[in-house]
Amino acid sequence: MRHFLNLTDAGPDSIAAMLDDALTRKRARAGWTKGRVDADAPLAGHVLAMIFEKNSTRTRVSFDMAIRQLGGQSIVMEAGQMQLGRGETVADTARVLSGYVDAIMIRTDDHAKVEEMAQYATVPVINGLTDASHPCQIMADLLTIIESGKALPGLKVAWLGDGNNVLASIVEAAALMRFDVVAACPQGFQPEEEAIVRANGRARVVSDPREAVEGADIIVTDTWISMGQAHAETKLAAMMPYQVDAALIAMAKPDAKFLHCLPAHRGEEVTPEVIDGPQSLIWAEAENRLHAQKSILRWCLGQIG
Ligand code: CP
Ligand code: NVA
Repeated sequence: MRHFLNLTDAGPDSIAAMLDDALTRKRARAGWTKGRVDADAPLAGHVLAMIFEKNSTRTRVSFDMAIRQLGGQSIVMEAGQMQLGRGETVADTARVLSGYVDAIMIRTDDHAKVEEMAQYATVPVINGLTDASHPCQIMADLLTIIESGKALPGLKVAWLGDGNNVLASIVEAAALMRFDVVAACPQGFQPEEEAIVRANGRARVVSDPREAVEGADIIVTDTWISMGQAHAETKLAAMMPYQVDAALIAMAKPDAKFLHCLPAHRGEEVTPEVIDGPQSLIWAEAENRLHAQKSILRWCLGQIG
């Protein structure tokens, strides 16, 4: 059973194979209408169930379109409208859904819930974001970086701001795909030490944003307040020196690219001139959620090695 709870579940060879598959499939359907099914309809006869305990625009629509383009179908559910929302266990939900559908994607808060879902489901389970990680997002980010003409090994990726779930998956990817991450985070908002240790020297945390950005190939940031966190003025104030602005990005390599998983808060983690400027790849990155997820689905269902 192939679950996709974190990037390590797939490993470097499968990640490379998925990225390759995503690029090939994306090119093969260039110019097609979005609802047209891929010529080989590889997941015809398959149904994906999605459970959302948090808001989503990209993950919801890109997974829905991903399974449709692969020839399959989807069921999208809000946890609050399920019995899950009034106390039915994750384990029982997993066992019941496994009798109806071929794969389950869940977006939730506590990472232990996706682990419990995977433990009891008899179909693949995909992590659509937890408080701990966001592996599907990073697959799209890697695809976007490769598409921009940069090879992953040896790249310097700079992260600015909150040491959050998205950063955790970037750090995990760095160790697997052999690139380096320098994360500049304010005191009190740094990533877990264990995650940095697991990256085997591929990731380090600094306090000076310039140190992270200097000579970087890729600059990444994210919202300062993630879903489920209280809006705190003290946190916003601590984050302000880590805002990605034109002066900061000028310290990176001249051909450096900017990524942001979205949704963005212009004027907080990034200035409009950067996120809407020539170095920003955010729209390709958002579209690539679709292409990357098609390959994640195919990997989970045993169609990619
Ligand atoms: N980047 C991302 O996961 O977006 P959504 O929250 O809209 O799904
Ligand atoms: N760190 C953000 C990512 C949203 C896609 C959050 O968890 O809200």
